[in-house]
Amino acid sequence: MKKIPVIIDCDPGCDDTIALLLAFANKVLDIKGITVSAGNVHINNTTENTRRLVGNFSSEINIARGCEKPLFKTIVTAPEVHGESGIGNVTLPETKKEIEKLNAVEYLAKTLKEATEKITIVITGPMTNIAVFLMTYPELKEKIEKFVIMGGSSIGGNVTPTAEFNIYVDAEAADIVFKSGVEIILCPLDVTMKAFIKDDELLKIKSIGSLASEVAFGAIDHALSFYKQTYGRDSVPMHDPCTIAYLLNPNIFEGKKAFVATELRGEFTYGETIIDYNDKLKRTKNVLVLNNINREAFVEMLYDSIKKI
Ligand code: RIB
Ligand code: CA
Repeated sequence: MKKIPVIIDCDPGCDDTIALLLAFANKVLDIKGITVSAGNVHINNTTENTRRLVGNFSSEINIARGCEKPLFKTIVTAPEVHGESGIGNVTLPETKKEIEKLNAVEYLAKTLKEATEKITIVITGPMTNIAVFLMTYPELKEKIEKFVIMGGSSIGGNVTPTAEFNIYVDAEAADIVFKSGVEIILCPLDVTMKAFIKDDELLKIKSIGSLASEVAFGAIDHALSFYKQTYGRDSVPMHDPCTIAYLLNPNIFEGKKAFVATELRGEFTYGETIIDYNDKLKRTKNVLVLNNINREAFVEMLYDSIKKI
């Protein structure tokens, strides 16, 4: 099977952790590097979480630390969802894995300059690193195959009444990415809220009995406790893993091409994503928006993948 060269830009993060485990388990993904963003928690924590995840489960992958704040705003984090460390109460074993000396933007530039084929960039956190890269190295845009992004929503926000977290943290960066002209596959809350794991399915993952399943259970269970307390739910949406799942099997998703933009000036709507499913604005349909998923197939993919690590 032809390998898919990817770079993952993420802010681990409970669901980012599951996305990374899913990526590590499936060798069809040729992971050219992981660039770390600030979002769920401070850049120091997201970088350390990434270092330990890679060091324990896929030690050859390069890691580059990214921007510690959004382009213009102060950083907004979500420790109430992901815990102070960023992965709940999960304790990842120590590892000798080292972070690259290049920062995320320079690592992206070096990797894309040297690439012999286009690279897919997966984004599961605020888009600051990618926006700075696009502004600094516009000539390298042609080396990007596409963006696969978790972010946005047309069904209401999870940070404000209208804004989803990844966009809200740095809407200006998201605006630069949405206007980049690069092909975009978007996994908004429209689809990720349908990609949930139920209690019994989580216990099946725990029963695998490996370090990977222990880490996955701890990360998901922590997020589940937030959704139980906040929304009274007995299931937890797996936002970020949808991006990797799409690359592994796009057939378990449904979607629609649409014009997508980000609100930057609304007093109450800053960070809202306008997803024009019905083409009311007659603008170029710049994004394939995923809005449905075969949940059972998704959960089976997660279980089978974690079992392989
Ligand atoms: O809104 C969900 C997104 O925000 C996910 O990427 C989660 O990790 C948080 O970053
Ligand atoms: Ca994330």
